[in-house]
Amino acid sequence: MRGHDRLVKTRVIQVDPEQPSAASLADAATVLAQGGLVAFATETVYGLGAIATDAAAVARIFDAKGRPSFNPLIVHMDGIDQARQCTTAWPEIAQRLAGRFWPGPLTLVLPRSALVPLIVTGGRETVAMRVPATQVARGLIALVGQPLAAPSANRSNRLSPTRAEHVLADLDGRIELILDSGPTAIGLESTVLDLTRSPLRILRPGPIGPEEIEQCLGGIDQVADTREDVARPPGELPASPGMLNVHYAPRTPALRVDSVEDLAKISWPKNPALLVLGPTALPDLPASLHLVELADPKAAGQRLYSVLHQCDALNVDVIVIVMPPDQPEWRTIRNRLVRAARPVTG
Ligand code: TXA
Ligand code: MG
Repeated sequence: MRGHDRLVKTRVIQVDPEQPSAASLADAATVLAQGGLVAFATETVYGLGAIATDAAAVARIFDAKGRPSFNPLIVHMDGIDQARQCTTAWPEIAQRLAGRFWPGPLTLVLPRSALVPLIVTGGRETVAMRVPATQVARGLIALVGQPLAAPSANRSNRLSPTRAEHVLADLDGRIELILDSGPTAIGLESTVLDLTRSPLRILRPGPIGPEEIEQCLGGIDQVADTREDVARPPGELPASPGMLNVHYAPRTPALRVDSVEDLAKISWPKNPALLVLGPTALPDLPASLHLVELADPKAAGQRLYSVLHQCDALNVDVIVIVMPPDQPEWRTIRNRLVRAARPVTG
């Protein structure tokens, strides 16, 4: 890292997730109003916020994360009215989906209005928007009175943070403030849905699945059948610029197998970790193994990134991951894991 990259003193303030104090929110709002960066918890992961209409502040997000300028940011609103100001189109489908799923983990992609600087959208004419559900995020956006551009609060190509410690480990010295309100509830990033085409397209699978989206739309439109939990063939471009294969990876080398039987193919190093997703009976394994079993999809979502962060912190040699079953409730986790880990073959 270059020496001049670390110029900022990063403060961490503990806040009550249910009732964040007015003083902490005012502190954070002041930092943002001065063009600073504040990390805060949403219900999915921690976001790194700047005022979306402040192009210079948004530029600092890209710097702090080391994020390529073509990868657009999600803009966080306090409600539908604010969202409508950021887009030139608000079709019936947007109204229905927002009415049903906001606040919540559904991000809608629509045409950008002039209020949203091009730096936020990576030069695109569309903007990704959502209303987060935590009291901290909502209180902060309301107090600032402006939408906040906020990608996940990690260095580019690293794991998303689900705890304030993860943010600090990645961004200490690069951002002004972290509001620590404890671990996030869902633990996986929002569903990103492109509303600018028909059928609609899920650009990033997430907590809200295509079945729920279609059900909400009651036949007005459909969701295209894409399989984003499958790794793309090399050379093929991702639907969303953020869905590069290398994304969401721990620093520790990670391997994945489809079943416990395939564990027989692994030659175990000295200090391995094994992460088993889905309900399974395990064979005999090396005694030194760090073993984590996550049988239930909801709990697995909450803990997945934390466990991977922990493996990095423990300096294990390899993380072997037994993939969960190919079922809808595991779809988002499978999507992230095919990016985090290489398949073991033969
Ligand atoms: O749950 C979340 O979505 C979290 C919290 C903080 O809200 N945010 C998050 O942001 O995951 P980020 O920047 O890490 O991921 C945003 C994703 C990227 O894959 C990006 O390429 C895509 O959304 N995206 C943003 N704007 C887009 C646009 N206009 N068109 C297509 N994809 C877009
Ligand atoms: Mg991210």
